[in-house]
This record gives sequence, structure tokens and C-alpha cells, in this order.
Amino acid sequence: MAGDNHAVAGAALPRHIAIIMDGNGRWATKRGLPRTAGHKVGAETFRTIAYYCKDLGIKYLTVYAFSTENWKRSADEVGVIMALMQRYLLELMELMARDHFRIHFSGDLTALSPNLQKLAQKADEIARSLPDDYCMVNACVNYGGRDEILRAARKYAADCVQGTRTPQDLDDNLFSSYMDSAGIPDPELIIRPSGEIRLSNFLLWQCAYSEFYFTDVLWPDFTPAEIDRAIAAYGQRRRRFGGVTQ
Ligand code: FPP
Repeated sequence: MAGDNHAVAGAALPRHIAIIMDGNGRWATKRGLPRTAGHKVGAETFRTIAYYCKDLGIKYLTVYAFSTENWKRSADEVGVIMALMQRYLLELMELMARDHFRIHFSGDLTALSPNLQKLAQKADEIARSLPDDYCMVNACVNYGGRDEILRAARKYAADCVQGTRTPQDLDDNLFSSYMDSAGIPDPELIIRPSGEIRLSNFLLWQCAYSEFYFTDVLWPDFTPAEIDRAIAAYGQRRRRFGGVTQ
């Protein structure tokens, strides 16, 4: 339960943590294994971290599972990642009510297999019937930050053409409601493991005031203790949102 953990006890707890699950391929290559072996262990790490964050009291966990650019990988690797997402997200969906999760998908889902699209639809239906305070796992699949902004802009423009909106109506909050993340608060903390110091097209709209935490640990080696360290670092930050510290 939140607060039982000594490492994070007393630290400000972000409402929303977002993670770029990076380093699966390098983890496997270092061990002389095929890249897909890294994704298999990475999927287990996803489950461990999702349950850990939920138990800490984190209300939203966004994970970058597959980017709009990841289709450039071999068909074999893409197939394994898709199968893992299907398996782990289906499992979580079946346990949503029991374990107090809600699953949401972000990204352009039209390019996904019919099975994954059905899963996303069903997950949304079930999630809508569950209490708002259940931890939401937001899986970004075929996701790109620019693509999300473009799709939102197109939808808004279409509403203007229909006459239900005008260009003058548009402000931050209204535009946010056109994003895949509608209704989800912006992440206070974005974590990227694997030593890469970049955002790679992740949550470009939502990260305006996020704090960033980078670690060299590769995603398959990522443990709950890493979450504790990230939250402790977050607790040390002074968030001024463009203002001055009182
Ligand atoms: C990035 O590491 C990881 C991915 C592109 C795939 C992540 C997918 C999973 C962990 C599968 C399960 C997901 C869910 C939501 C259940 P990389 O391959 O880019 O690593 P590298 O930079 O070392 O090559």
C-alpha cells in the first residue's frame, strides 16, 4: 500500500508516471540472445511495475509499448512484440475488476491486428464501468506524439467544418480533450531507462511541465527499487511552472 514503502514514504507521489520501456534489445544482445528474448523479459517487467505502481497509489501509468516508427523492425520482432502485448494486456484486462486496474490504449489503433483492436475496445468498455480511482494503465501502441497531435488537430478541424466548433474556441483544455489522453492528467514524471537521454516522440503535448528521470538500467533489469529512486528524485525537484519559488 502507498506509504508502506520506506524509500518513498513521505516523498511527493506523482499522480501520473509515464515510462519509455527501452533497452530490451540491448539487454538480449549483451547475453548473446535474440532481441525478442529481451522483449519477453521486458513484458514481465511491465507486469511487475504496473502492480507496484498501483500498490504505491499511482493513479495513472502510461507505458510506451510500440511507436509509430517501430514497424521498421523485422517482421519477426514486430510479431513477438504484438503477441506479448496481446497476452499481457489481455491478462490485465481480465483482472481489471479484481485487481483495481483500468486499461486504456493510446495511439493509432487502426493499424493493429483485429484481435488487438477488439481487446482495446473491450478494455475501454470494461474500464468505463469501473471506479475512476482504479489505477489506469495507458498503453501507447502504434503511438507517436506528433501523430497524436495531428490526429487531434484533424478531428478539431473536422468539427469546425461541421460547425460544432470554431477556431476561436480552441484552448489548451479543449485541445487536450481531442487527444488520445483525454481525461488523463499530464504526467508529472517521465522515466526513461537504458541510458538514452531523449523523448523519442513520446507524449509531446502532455510533457510540457513533466519532470524527467533517466537511468542507465535496461528495461528488463528495471525493478520496483528503480521506481522508488525515480520518485525520490522527483520529490527533490522544485516545480515552478514558469513562476517563482515562494
Ligand atoms: C524498446 O526496447 C522496447 C520496445 C520497442 C517494445 C516494448 C514492448 C514490450 C515490453 C512488450 C510488452 C508490452 C506491454 C504493454 C505488455 P528496444 O527494443 O528499442 O531496445 P534497444 O534500444 O536496446 O534496441
